[in-house]
Amino acid sequence: MKLKEFESDTIIEPFRIRSVEPVRFTTMEERAQLLKEAGFNPFLLKADDVLIDLLTDSGTGAMSSKQWSGMIASDESYAGSSSFYKLESAVRDITGFKHLIPTHQGRAAENIFFTTIAREGDVIPSNTHFDTTRAHIEHAGAEARDLVIAEGHQPESRHPFKGNMDLAKLEKTIHDTGVDNIPVIMITVTNNSGGGQPVSMDNIRSVSEMARKYDIPFFIDACRFAENAWFIKTREEGFSGEKPLDIARKMFSYADGCTMSAKKDGMANIGGFLALNSDELASECRNLEILTEGFPTYGGMAGYDMEAVAQGLYEALDSDYLRYRIRSIAYLGDKLSDAGIPIVQPTGGHAVYLDARKILPHIPPTQYPAWSFNNALYLLGGVRGVEIGTVMFGRQPDGSEKPAAMELVRLAFPRRVYTQSHVDYLAEVIISVFRQREQLGGYKIVSGPTVLRHFSARLEPLDP
Ligand code: F0G
Repeated sequence: MKLKEFESDTIIEPFRIRSVEPVRFTTMEERAQLLKEAGFNPFLLKADDVLIDLLTDSGTGAMSSKQWSGMIASDESYAGSSSFYKLESAVRDITGFKHLIPTHQGRAAENIFFTTIAREGDVIPSNTHFDTTRAHIEHAGAEARDLVIAEGHQPESRHPFKGNMDLAKLEKTIHDTGVDNIPVIMITVTNNSGGGQPVSMDNIRSVSEMARKYDIPFFIDACRFAENAWFIKTREEGFSGEKPLDIARKMFSYADGCTMSAKKDGMANIGGFLALNSDELASECRNLEILTEGFPTYGGMAGYDMEAVAQGLYEALDSDYLRYRIRSIAYLGDKLSDAGIPIVQPTGGHAVYLDARKILPHIPPTQYPAWSFNNALYLLGGVRGVEIGTVMFGRQPDGSEKPAAMELVRLAFPRRVYTQSHVDYLAEVIISVFRQREQLGGYKIVSGPTVLRHFSARLEPLDP
């Protein structure tokens, strides 16, 4: 018998499911009531009332049997736990950084780092700072400056590395601000606030060279480092034959340290760290860590959390996993593009971003078009995404309202949680809302806090 080798074009989920979590179906009538009770704010819905939850990819992933078995065998010693040394060895192996400072999540690492290095009047450039990063920098009295390339703000541009830093703007910022007022240059991989778009190795190397030229430390916000490595492998010349692990090592080799939320590419439900080379800076950061997080060999994590992250960091770098992960996002993106729905192109690493400004031109930014589309997704299909638009960014410190740069609905995929038929259903819901888009109206905010209002504001439809 002579059979030709079978080659499939289908990228299947590279795992089987042994523990299941039922989801609950609701009727449209029930959802209309639930949404009303939640002040038309999906953050205020109970998760049990959501069928497909794409609010975030942070801490929402499924862990593997290897992670769970590591957790059972963890060491909960206060000082010198073996789980810490396991995590330290994984972080060192992947990043090459000398010191590990474990924290309970990414923003705790940011808090320790920026409190230690940033001063009033400093400027900290990045491609795009995530909102917690920005908030910590501003809390320290410094300015968080976003210097992504122009294509990073154009949803329809198909530049393969829309997360890249604009090097000319970076050099100008260094000249205008002065080296002494730039304690660090950051780069976020992938660029979450800019559509989950990757940064090329070439750009990371160039930023690093500039940082070294001016003797400024260079740190990576590494939350989605493995997804970024996959984009380098598949989009950048010279990397197609390399393993994601080696690409990640190379990315980190250009930097002096990183902040990390292990809730993303750490494949864990909680955890994070700061990793760095400087002995002096590490020692200062550890002093603060003891104050705010805990003893340096656990920081904000239980021993079992450190086990889960030590194992998860490698699983995030597995080629079969990454191929499936990036393909499942693109699969939804392709279906929506085929239906004529404007999205941020090309699809990024962890989410599909719908361009609500284009979809709903009849709703002005101050009546929150992306919010409206997102609520309609819940109403029609029990799907929860998140608005990244004027509700999130529009309120100015002086109380005035300004349209955000883009009006996006982010549909972020938890890792290893949903299957292809969930995604098929999702596409049907989005397409159905899109076809009825002229029916959608704007919203107004009726109450809410002045800072980070999107989490708890209550809204009302303008045309109920
Ligand atoms: N940096 C980036 C790029 C992030 O996306 C996040 C979190 C953080 C830092 C902070 O990490 O949540 O562990 O404190 N992003 C989540 C999201 C919340 O939904 O995009 P954390």
